[in-house]
Amino acid sequence: PKVTFVAHDGRATEVDVPVGENLMRGALYNGIEEIVGECGGGLSCATCHCYIDEDWTERVGSPASQAEEELLESAGAEVRPTSRLSCQVDMTEALDGLVVHTPETQY
Ligand code: FES
Repeated sequence: PKVTFVAHDGRATEVDVPVGENLMRGALYNGIEEIVGECGGGLSCATCHCYIDEDWTERVGSPASQAEEELLESAGAEVRPTSRLSCQVDMTEALDGLVVHTPETQY
């Protein structure tokens, strides 16, 4: 399935993220530099912060766990209702075409 990452300046990059892979790794493997993912998906860094496009928020859902919600608080950029930690979002067929916005900074 395809995911489009849109940078804060509007640059859009469409990448392929295999089903079952999380969005953080999908970004990293495809050179999306706005996603850092320092802890490797261990839910301890918040440098994989992203904003799910509003058309997709319902399908992607809200923070998967309280730990994600709490860690989001330490994200470098503004936290919005659409904020997620991309390592906690797993790709599915239903998310084909997903649009994800990346923040200006992860620190
Ligand atoms: Fe560290 Fe997502 S990669 S919390």
